[in-house]
Amino acid sequence: MEAKRAAAEKAAEYVRDGMIVGLGTGSTAYWVIQKLGEMTKNGLSMKAVATSTPSELLAEELGITLVRLSEIDEIDLTIDGADEIDGEWNLIKGGGGALLREKIIASASKELIIIADESKVVQQLGRFPLPIEIVQFGHELTLRKLASYGCIPRLRMQGEEPFVTDNGNYIVDCEFGKIDQPRELHTELNMIPGVVENGMFINLASKVIIGALDGSVKELVR
Ligand code: 5RP
Repeated sequence: MEAKRAAAEKAAEYVRDGMIVGLGTGSTAYWVIQKLGEMTKNGLSMKAVATSTPSELLAEELGITLVRLSEIDEIDLTIDGADEIDGEWNLIKGGGGALLREKIIASASKELIIIADESKVVQQLGRFPLPIEIVQFGHELTLRKLASYGCIPRLRMQGEEPFVTDNGNYIVDCEFGKIDQPRELHTELNMIPGVVENGMFINLASKVIIGALDGSVKELVR
């Protein structure tokens, strides 16, 4: 918790008055939303767009002004977590099931700061099963197509029922073991009919802040 919080609080230092900020999803992004709530109470004037319903509800509760994506042209800065980060600035995201909105918001942002603890830094992507958002219609067929790319696909469940995203879709967690060519695989997976988006973020992050257990942080800038 300290490591995630340290990274989150460092990232919050980049938020300035007048900015429109994208709020990520997950247990690391939770800390950045908390910090921005505190900064807002202390006079920071910013507006935010949230990447998921839980982040939206938390921001609202903390008094952060929310805007809709349709009301703005661009986001100044988005701060979000990740499940894996490799040395080439590629990410796996979607552990919390919010990858589609996260990617839409990240790609509308001038800057994307990724915050994480040290456990998320990997040599090569793929140990963490890749989350893929798919439409409900024909999902059994889509799972079979995904398997043909060399992964073990598992439909994400919530109790007895499939997990449903904020967009009304399902998530498949695809166990690849390792991903040799993330950029190519990213494109191929997104071409499968039924796939809405996959959790690889290629070339989107502009800064990575890694927190350690002792509360120190390491910043990697492109
Ligand atoms: C949610 C995400 C999260 O950023 C990712 O799963 C990391 O989560 P956490 O900060 O809880 O470890 O992509 O869809």
